[in-house]
Amino acid sequence: MSLVCFTVVFVTFLMTGAHCDVTEVFAEAGAPAVLPCKSTNNTPSTIIWTKANKGTVWRKLKSGLQYWGSSWTQKGIQRVQCPHPQFVRGDYSLLINNVQWDDGGLYSCSVEAGGWVAENLVMLRIITVSISPSEPILGRDVSVTCDVTPWPYGASVRWMLNGGPVSSETAVASDGVSSNSIVRKKLAARLSGNWTCVVSYKGKEGRASANLTVRGIIQPPTDNTKVYAAVGSSVTLPCIFSPGLIPSSPAWEKLQPGSLFKPSPSLPLPSFSPSSPSSQNPWDKSTALKEVGLKDVGKYRCSGTIQGQKLTRDMQLVIAKIESSVPSKRKGYVTVTCQLSDDKDVTNYEWVHVSYDVNGTQSFGSIQTGKTLIISLVSEENRGAWVCRFSGKEGILGNITYHVQMMSGLSGQESTGFSHNTAALVGLSLLLLFLLLVVAQMYKNHQRRKRVFPYPALETIVHTIANEREERERNQVKQ
Ligand SMILES: *[C@@H]1O[C@H](CO)[C@@H](O)[C@H](O)[C@H]1NC(C)=O
Ligand SMILES: *[C@@H]1O[C@H](CO)[C@@H](O)[C@H](O)[C@H]1NC(C)=O
Ligand SMILES: *[C@@H]1O[C@H](CO)[C@@H](O)[C@H](O)[C@H]1NC(C)=O
Ligand SMILES: *[C@@H]1O[C@H](CO)[C@@H](O)[C@H](O)[C@H]1NC(C)=O
Repeated sequence: MSLVCFTVVFVTFLMTGAHCDVTEVFAEAGAPAVLPCKSTNNTPSTIIWTKANKGTVWRKLKSGLQYWGSSWTQKGIQRVQCPHPQFVRGDYSLLINNVQWDDGGLYSCSVEAGGWVAENLVMLRIITVSISPSEPILGRDVSVTCDVTPWPYGASVRWMLNGGPVSSETAVASDGVSSNSIVRKKLAARLSGNWTCVVSYKGKEGRASANLTVRGIIQPPTDNTKVYAAVGSSVTLPCIFSPGLIPSSPAWEKLQPGSLFKPSPSLPLPSFSPSSPSSQNPWDKSTALKEVGLKDVGKYRCSGTIQGQKLTRDMQLVIAKIESSVPSKRKGYVTVTCQLSDDKDVTNYEWVHVSYDVNGTQSFGSIQTGKTLIISLVSEENRGAWVCRFSGKEGILGNITYHVQMMSGLSGQESTGFSHNTAALVGLSLLLLFLLLVVAQMYKNHQRRKRVFPYPALETIVHTIANEREERERNQVKQ
């Protein structure tokens, strides 16, 4: 290389007095690379692209004859193109498709025109990012390595994960010799994604990426995921391993509440059954609970062994129920409240009215926000059900349905109510009339007593007659 440079320096010194200048080009393995070479003379006689230690890449003679180096053909297809049809006149840049690791090195483009020879030197550096092991298991060691060939001494290397910076404690600095690597003791799910190595050297920047796929329990992705279920409904507790990863001795257990959530063999699992066994993949260890009860609330752990390592995933079953009460002052109303065994992640409650047509098809109606809803049981608008839908930051978490029991025979009840009132009114009037008669009679008796006092015997006769008459009158009134 130094010999080439020396030759170039010598030749260019002789001809133009220019100094040795090497253009840096970075390319990711598998990607195309463009090696620049421009000529100020539009009609050069000869153009020769060579690679150090690999001979001629492409040559065009004065006669127009072209020659491609045999080692640049891949399955009968030229990997190099020059001049590229898209390049303007005087541009003899070399396009290399699908660059390989061993394409890295020094290239030379010499353009001969009018007895002058101009030589451009281009250093092509190939970058690769590799992950070892290629499909790491959660909790295992993994290393991500950035290699550049030829390695640019003095270059700075930085890492990005999914386009963002990688915190310094996860990255191990370049060893300065041949590669730069990242080593993690324990592979965590947050390390999965697109790892990009960015190499900066002499004002040029090159980058390469690799996708780190973490293998293990992919669903749920993190521990302590909450699974929401309504009382009486069925629920699936998810536990899905990476496709093709079949765990040995998979198990489910309910964790003891309280101190440290130790697995408790004494706590029997509720009546779980594998969810839809026909469609189940061997790496899907989800389990289903047919009918959720309040006692099922709590923490559950799914586990399985992969390559001698036990992987676990904990999740929490949160149960939703509806509490209803009848407000003491408002007859014909019911107050319903949406209750969750854990509502820390719930930011919003809304009630959606659901009505059913004759075919049983449901349609959604009005929406009320809030945890509590007061429903009128005599309003036809409430016929059907009200569904309490609760959501968190990520969206809807679940729902629970309250079926409205309307007050039956509404119109009939109203008319009977009216007739009851009428009867009471009639009864009351009769009673008043009777009292009036009694008072009138008492007054009459009093007057009579005053008149017939001197004749006690007569009084008795008159009295008896009067009483008889009263009796008749009273009977008449009663009838
Ligand atoms: C990875 O990230 C880099 C930089 O953010 C981007 O250029 C590249 O296209 C990404 N690779 C994939 C496979 O998404
Ligand atoms: C990385 O691989 C995973 C799984 O194969 C895929 O879902 C994801 O889209 C890939 N990411 C990129 C950036 O290519
Ligand atoms: C009920 O179903 C029948 C037949 O499927 C259909 O003709 C009818 O329109 C449906 N009624 C409603 C209210 O959707
Ligand atoms: C309640 O949840 C079930 C199951 O996720 C869904 O099919 C239904 O549409 C939801 N109801 C409402 C009113 O959101």
